[in-house]
Order: sequence, then C-alpha cells, then structure tokens
Amino acid sequence: SDPDVSDLVAAHLRDVPDFPKPGVVFKDITPLLGDGPAFGEVIRALAARYADGSRRHTTAGEGRTADGSGRHTTAGEGRTAAGSGRHTGSPVPQRIDAVAGIEARGFIIGGALAHELGVGFVPVRKVGKLPGATVQRTYDLEYGTATIEIHTDAVTPGQRVLLVDDVLATGGTAIAAWDLLEGAGAEVVAFETVVELAFLGGRAALGERSVRALHVVE
Ligand code: PRP
Repeated sequence: SDPDVSDLVAAHLRDVPDFPKPGVVFKDITPLLGDGPAFGEVIRALAARYADGSRRHTTAGEGRTADGSGRHTTAGEGRTAAGSGRHTGSPVPQRIDAVAGIEARGFIIGGALAHELGVGFVPVRKVGKLPGATVQRTYDLEYGTATIEIHTDAVTPGQRVLLVDDVLATGGTAIAAWDLLEGAGAEVVAFETVVELAFLGGRAALGERSVRALHVVE
C-alpha cells in the first residue's frame, strides 16, 4: 500500500539462508526491531487505519498525540501527521478494542501496536504457556502440526480485535489465531503483518478475511 514503508521494511530485513532448515531463506526482522526510528515508523504504519483507543478514556486535549510523539521526528512530522495522511485507502479510522499478537515475534509487533493505539493486548501462545483455562486450535504445518491457544476469557463477546504478526507465510498460524479469537466471541477486524511471503499463498488461504501487509515478497 505505502511504497515508502514497504521500502523501509525491505531495507531492514535480513535474508538468512538455510534457516530453520536447508533450502529455506528466513526473513529476519531483528534489524528492523533494532532500529528505533524504523521500528517506530512501522508501528505507526500498522496503526494508521485504526483509531487511537486511548482517546475514548481521556478528555479533550489529553490524548496521546501530545506525549512523546515527536521524539524521533522533526517538528511537524509527528504521529498525527503520519497516521492520518499516508494511508488514503481508509479515510475513517476503524475502532478496535484490543490487539492480539501471535507468539513470538507477533508479541513484539503487537505489544508496540497495542501501546500505540492505546488498547490492551491479547497473547496468542504456543500450547502450554498460558496459566489459565484455554481454548486451543491445531493446524497443519509442512511436516506435522502445531497448536496455539488463548485464555478462554481473553476476549469478550463482540470485542473488536486486530490480529497482528511479523510474517504471513502459508497462513496456517494466522487462520488458527483468527478462528480461535472468533470462536471466543471476538470480531476480528483484520490481520496485519509486516511481511507477506506471497509465494507461499497465505493471503489466498485466509480467504475472505481482511489482510494487509506492509511489505510483500513476491
Ligand atoms: C512464524 C511467523 C508466523 C508464522 C507464519 O512463526 O512469526 O507466526 O511462522 O507461518 P505460517 O503463515 O506458515 O503459519 P514461528 O512458527 O517461526 O514461531 P516463532 O515466532 O515463535 O519463532
């Protein structure tokens, strides 16, 4: 959607050959995470289509745009300008109530995004890590299966949840997470990812679900 942000992501991705196994080129986002201004720009780009939830709980003039938004930018290029001007596809910001992130790198992106949007965070974890009662979903991998879970009370019925991860590959993980959240009563507004590996077909696998990627690897 935004060529500048796509280029920014591309410039901070590292290709690691033969990881996690021979023949696979791993898209490593640690250079992006390690660069404060780039990380901030990516989080703001992910947040751009959504309304700042913290404004619902503050009086006029006490919103988050005044606090700290200019730290990594020059005057006039703060959060508000980046959030409202760049992504013209959706002029009206969508309201969300929570961000859900998928273990493990989706926690890093999702935690920052939840903070940026002033809403809470829901961890979608690999099985066996959450302390409370959970609901699980098992999905197919190239070899074998994987299981992820959320707390049964992680979302409330009708809650509008934005699902995020670092990378969309085959889509199996995102579909399982989406269906878990909806099964628990949430309304999943969209799946947002930093990188989409288009050659693995995840977008098609996600079907009618709303998907956006900041950077697409063809
Ligand atoms: C990666 C990535 C996504 C998932 C995408 O996670 O962070 O969560 O794979 O793959 P898919 O679209 O084919 O399902 P990984 O399994 O490497 O877990 P990690 O973040 O805990 O290392």
